[in-house]
Formats: sequence, C-alpha cells, structure tokens
Amino acid sequence: MNGSASAFTQSVGRFIAKLKSVDLELAQELSALLPNASALRSADTFVPAPVDVDSRMQLVEVMYPVMLDKAPIFSGEIKDMLGACLKEWGSIDVLLREGLAPARMLLFCGLPGTGKTMAAHWLAQELQLPLLTLNLATVMSSYLGKTGNNLKAVFDHANARPCVLLLDEFDAIAKRRDDGSDVGELKRLVNVLLQALDEWPANAMLVAATNHGELLDPAVWRRFDVVLNFDKPDAGLIAQFLCDLPLADKTREALAKLLEGESFSAIGAMVLSARKTALLEQAPLEPLLLKLAIRACMSRGQMKKPLDAEMLLMYLDGYSRREIASHFGKTHPTVSSVIKRYLGE
Ligand SMILES: Nc1ncnc2c1ncn2[C@@H]1O[C@H](COP(=O)(O)OP(=O)(O)O)[C@@H](O)[C@H]1O
Ligand SMILES: [Mg+2]
Repeated sequence: MNGSASAFTQSVGRFIAKLKSVDLELAQELSALLPNASALRSADTFVPAPVDVDSRMQLVEVMYPVMLDKAPIFSGEIKDMLGACLKEWGSIDVLLREGLAPARMLLFCGLPGTGKTMAAHWLAQELQLPLLTLNLATVMSSYLGKTGNNLKAVFDHANARPCVLLLDEFDAIAKRRDDGSDVGELKRLVNVLLQALDEWPANAMLVAATNHGELLDPAVWRRFDVVLNFDKPDAGLIAQFLCDLPLADKTREALAKLLEGESFSAIGAMVLSARKTALLEQAPLEPLLLKLAIRACMSRGQMKKPLDAEMLLMYLDGYSRREIASHFGKTHPTVSSVIKRYLGE
C-alpha cells in the first residue's frame, strides 16, 4: 500500500481467491470493493526516470503515448500470440481478482529488422501504457561494477507503475554465465536480472528482444511466459507490407517474390529510397523499386542466372525485348520468357 499499486492489487486478488472457499459472500464484497486496476494506475505517475549516478544520463527512455505511423505486419503465429496477450491484458482486473496474472514476460528472438522492437511498441500502443526502453548504452557505460545497480534501479522504477518495459539487445545483459572474459561481473548481472524477473509484478509487461537468442543464459530463458521467433517475411507478408504503395497488382507480386529473403527493415529502406528518387527525378516508382529488388535478389545469390538480372535491368531502363536480345546475343523468346518469369509481363 505504500508504494506499488500493482503489488497491492495482486496481493488483494490472491487473498480474495483464498477467502472464497471460507466465506464466499465476504470474498464477493471485497472483490467489488477492490478498485479496478486502471483507477490505481493513475496513483503513481510522474516520477522522474532513474539516472546513472556518474553520467546523470537517463537509464530508460519513456514514450507515452506510443503511436506507430504504420501498423506492423505479423505472421499468423505471432499475430495470434500477441492477440492472446492483449486479450488477457484487456481483462487484467478479472485475472488479478482471481490471483492470476496475464502473460507478462515476453521474449522476442530473431534476425535484425524483423519487427521485434516494433512489436514491443505496438503492444504499448494497444495497451495504452507508457513504453520504457532500457537505455543500454547508459546502463552499461559507467563502471562495469555499477551496471547491476543501474539495472536494479530500472526494474524498481518499472515495477512501481503499469508500463511496458523493453529490454532491447537483451543478450548484452543476459549472456550465458559461462561465456566470455568478464565472468564475475556477468554472473552478477545475470543474477540481478534473474531476481528482477522473479519479482516482476503482475500488471506490468516486460518485453526482452534479442538478435542472438542462442547466447542467452538458459535460466533467463526459462522465466519467460512467451517466447516468439520473428522470421523474415514470406512473399505474402511482403505483398501486404507493400499494399499502401501505388503499385499494379502484378508489380506487387513480382516485388514480393524478388524480395523474399529480405527483412522488413531492408525492404522499408528500399521503398523509401525509391520513393525519394521517384519524387526528385520525376520518375515512375515501379521500375525503380523493381530494379532495387532485382539487385537485392542478385546480391543474396538468389537469381539463378546473373544474365537474367542484367536483362531485367535493361528492360526496366526502357530497352525493348529485341534490343536486349541482340545486346546479349539471345533470342527474342528467351528474353521474353525471363521477363515473364520475374515480372509477369
Ligand atoms: N513486422 C513488421 N511490419 C512492418 N514493418 C516492420 C516490421 N518489422 C520491421 N519493420 C520495419 O523495419 C523497421 C525496423 O524494425 P525493428 O522492429 O527495429 O526490427 P528488430 O527490432 O527486429 O531489429 C521498423 O521500424 C519498421 O519500419
Ligand atoms: Mg530491435
């Protein structure tokens, strides 16, 4: 009652659950009295974020409200899992009153640029909670010995208010204890982390994200309620990602196929670059994007014949099939079939 609204709600919830078997009526009365979690939420806002003692830099970055410019695109499995989490959070009061907690510790693993950070932002947006992002550079920059204290200050701060705490680049603090040189300090850090995870309250969400799931300490791994693997998007998801661009359907399809194997962030960067060129050079967007996609496909080594790529690039530069055929010493039907295969034209 002195500090943490969340701890209070959870304890009372547990008490009510036990009381039910003894005195149902009293339990129901108490349950009706227990203010809903959102009313308690407003009690402890506006506490400044903790800072590093030496540098005075903030240990967490606070974002509220969180608003994404674009809705993220998730594969079926990820969409379902995140949806289930949101559903539990939507009924958090019901769960807490029964002494239950929503899924509150999530681990996101996967390659860079696949949407792990974005998914954490999206959760905070949907839950309308502040997003606190651990400032890893500040937390780790001061004397190594202070990292544990810094981490603890961050957890104490996050525990005292409903929020989503994002530990990005999580492997930096949760590496296996048998790894590397600075073993003593690393061990201490992982222990601070384990304790914090064990004491994590029921009404705050913790999201840890890492590109190196394999480096994580197994004891840390075990503590998460939900572990999600983020993959690079398949052609269907890429087409969805491109759906707000003014593209013909067949171009979108061609792009989606050529870009399979790229991360969302790489595709996003290509789109941005093509849009800027289109605007500044008054050029049509489609060939620009297709050219970028063909080059990317080539550099991933996924274009079966390098010559195909060269023909396609020439075609997109406006040369006719006949010109391309004579340039490469190929027949007209050969050129046509390459164009048909990759661009559907
Ligand atoms: N699933 C996704 N849906 C839509 N855009 C995405 C997705 N994943 C990544 N992006 C784009 O790529 C950028 C980087 O993604 P990010 O979430 O930082 O990747 P990660 O944290 O996995 O390295 C995002 O800001 C967004 O523009
Ligand atoms: Mg990230």
